[in-house]
Amino acid sequence: MNKTLAILKPDCIGRNLTGKVIDFILSNGFYIRAMKMAHLTKIEAEEFYAIHKGKPFFNELINFMTSRPCIPMVLEKNNAVQSFRETIGATDPSKAADNTLRKLYAESVQRNTVHGSDSEKNAQKEIAFFFSLMEITK
Ligand code: RTP
Ligand code: MG
Repeated sequence: MNKTLAILKPDCIGRNLTGKVIDFILSNGFYIRAMKMAHLTKIEAEEFYAIHKGKPFFNELINFMTSRPCIPMVLEKNNAVQSFRETIGATDPSKAADNTLRKLYAESVQRNTVHGSDSEKNAQKEIAFFFSLMEITK
C-alpha cells in the first residue's frame, strides 16, 4: 500500500459535510493514517499551492483556502494517489464523473470540497508539509 494527502477544504467544513465525506473516503477502501484540523495562514497556503503562483485563480484560491479551517489527512490504500484522484473526480464538478466526491458535493471549480495529491512525489512532499513522521500511524 502507499499514501496520499487529502484535504477537506474550507467549503466542506463550512457546509458541515465532513462526516459524509469521511464516510465516503472510508467506504472507498482508504485507511486514515493521520488527520488534523488546520487553519492555514496566507504564507502556508501560498507555499502549499506554490505550483499555481501567477495563475489567474491564485489569489482567489489562497483567500478560499485561508477562509476557514481545513482538515488534512494521510490516506493509505493500494495505488493511493491515483485511486484517490478517481474518488474525488475532476477539478470542475460539472465535469466530474458520477459517484465522485466532487460530483456529489462540490459547489464550483474553486469550492470543490477536497484536495488530492496528483503524483507520488507531490504526495510525499504534501504529507511532510502537514505531518511529522510521529503523527502518521501504521
Ligand atoms: P487540488 O490540487 O486542490 O486537488 O485540485 P486539482 O488538482 O483538481 O486542481 P489544480 O489544477 O491543482 O487546482 C488547484 C485548485 O485551485 C482551484 N482552481 N480554481 N477558478 C479556476 O479556474 C480554478 N482552477 C483551479 C481549485 O480549488 C483547485 O482544486
Ligand atoms: Mg492539484
